Amino acid sequence: MSDTVTIIDNRTGKQLNCPVLQGVMGPPVIDIKHLYKELGMFTYDPGYGSTSSCKSAITYLDGEQGVLMYRGYPIEQLAEQSTFLEVCYLLIYGELPSRLQMDEWETGIKMHTMTHEHLSRFYTGYRYDAHPMSIMGGVVNAIASYYHDATDIYDAGQRLMTAKRVIGKMPNIASKCYRYAIGLPFVYPDNSLSYIENFMNMTFSKPSEKYKPSPVAVRALDLLFILHADHEQNASTSTVRLAASAETNPFACIAAGIATLWGKAHGGANEAVIKMLEEIEHPRNIRKFLDRAKDKDDSFRLMGFGHRVYKNYDPRATIIRKACHELLGEMGLNQPMFEIAMELERIALEDGYFIERKLYPNVDFYSGLIYQALNIPSEMFTVMFALARSAGWVAQWMELMVDSDFRIGRPRQLYIGKEKRDYIPISQRS
Ligand code: CMC
Repeated sequence: MSDTVTIIDNRTGKQLNCPVLQGVMGPPVIDIKHLYKELGMFTYDPGYGSTSSCKSAITYLDGEQGVLMYRGYPIEQLAEQSTFLEVCYLLIYGELPSRLQMDEWETGIKMHTMTHEHLSRFYTGYRYDAHPMSIMGGVVNAIASYYHDATDIYDAGQRLMTAKRVIGKMPNIASKCYRYAIGLPFVYPDNSLSYIENFMNMTFSKPSEKYKPSPVAVRALDLLFILHADHEQNASTSTVRLAASAETNPFACIAAGIATLWGKAHGGANEAVIKMLEEIEHPRNIRKFLDRAKDKDDSFRLMGFGHRVYKNYDPRATIIRKACHELLGEMGLNQPMFEIAMELERIALEDGYFIERKLYPNVDFYSGLIYQALNIPSEMFTVMFALARSAGWVAQWMELMVDSDFRIGRPRQLYIGKEKRDYIPISQRS
């Protein structure tokens, strides 16, 4: 009986043997799906700190060791040697492509870089100063309307087509969020360019000037996109899966993921980090901000620090920190904010509060500095994150759709409201 855990209800003496499932890596998982039927009890796990919401073969992370792998490939190797588009293939198909498969994949994605012309008008319904994440969520949800009845989510070919549409169209959608805000005309995709160059051309080119993205910037963005492509069952991915479990249109599911990612405890942290570094202004003010972060009566938290799963360095932060050094060096930029960030990291990592709680810099701590060096405004940082994460979201959606345990997600609750009481007409209420 080594592979079961017995749950005993001490009130009644009733017991349940729960199978213990062992994944390929990671801690064992207690299968409690018969708990309610057998013992009439739910589990309580706010924030899902001890809950595996699904089985997945896409991404593995070990928070204690600071390990992240896509389909078994360490993130460090992918960051060093792969490209974002190849990583998308890996997430979707589970294996690295051959040269021929990669060429076909790239061509397949390029066939889906356009969006319906009418969609461009959708942007103009937003105020000029609307947050681009709000626009992006709205536009992606609107795309559901173009492919609604036509998408059979139970057809493997159509799911693959959806993945190509999502990955192909996201740069186009994201670039328009940016250009609408700054009043530049929209640019059509140019499929003679690489995925990243195309995105940069649609985002930064001006009708009046020739534009060629710098290779350093292209590589930096490619790297950031690789690092952001997937991250297991985080809040936005879980949102996508929960929406998908209701057999919702996949674009609408991704729009739900975008809404969740926007929050500053999640993907919105990259924008919040830059705001925080601007507020700190000078290394001499760092301690004041650290004291605020430690003060339980102050809601301020050190943005870009801490993670639900990583209790060690976030491996993505290590890679980005190095890339930040290289990028700023190559671009000849002297960024005082980078100096503040490094000093803040140094002081925080020597501070008992952060040591005790195992709070390390996360992916968002340095990514904003790279975006900033590339002249991308801070409101766009989370949009870039969403662009890259869409690959992971769609891969997770595809995986869910063929999961043998697929059923609508329906958590229960611990009810703490009023007991039954009778309605009193308003005329009789005091
Ligand atoms: N600054 C100060 N204290 C912190 C921080 C922080 N950034 N993060 C956690 N703590 C403290 C927290 O107050 C708590 O202290 P105590 O035990 O005394 O009550 C302890 O550390 C544990 O924190 P928690 O809130 O239970 O941790 P969590 O797993 O629920 O939250 C988090 C994780 C990422 C939301 C949180 O660390 C945070 O708010 N960080 C800042 C925002 C951020 O950088 N988010 C990006 C996350 S990575 C990218 C992504 O997900 O998209």
